[in-house]
Amino acid sequence: MTILQILEFPDPRLRKMAAPVTVFDAKLEVLINDMLETMYEALGIGLAATQVNVHKRLLVLDISEEKDSPQVFINPTYEVIEDELTEYDEGCLSVPGFYETVARPSAVRVTAVDKQGESFQLEADGILSTCIQHEIDHLDGKLFVDYLSALKRQRIRSKLEKDHKKSA
Ligand code: NI
Repeated sequence: MTILQILEFPDPRLRKMAAPVTVFDAKLEVLINDMLETMYEALGIGLAATQVNVHKRLLVLDISEEKDSPQVFINPTYEVIEDELTEYDEGCLSVPGFYETVARPSAVRVTAVDKQGESFQLEADGILSTCIQHEIDHLDGKLFVDYLSALKRQRIRSKLEKDHKKSA
């Protein structure tokens, strides 16, 4: 398995719109396994293909304490089933070191396909609802910093740009 490089804000490639997955082959399976490995290694709970510069509608997550329950969502969509908003302090592997409060609908019904191309549905609330919405945003070129004030977003951007210069 390969640890993939994770793009970091404000990299413009994080703004690309991902295209649906149409081919379910061994190559896709390799990508899924690499994304899971990359997510676990970075101590994240979710990772979208966009973040590793693959612009396909695919995301992985694992919100379990033991990190033994990987979930894969391909071509995911959701509908809100509970309008009430829940706030979480969200972080993102593409925005390292920052955690900010974001409010999102508390429950959603997700439709997606698995790696065999089989369709499935699930209802998510709590952290799973937040996590799925956050990851699907990535596939649409959106980041959690977009929900913050322009001032906050600019502060995060400046700090990360400084870090990137240092490590370049
Ligand atoms: Ni993220």
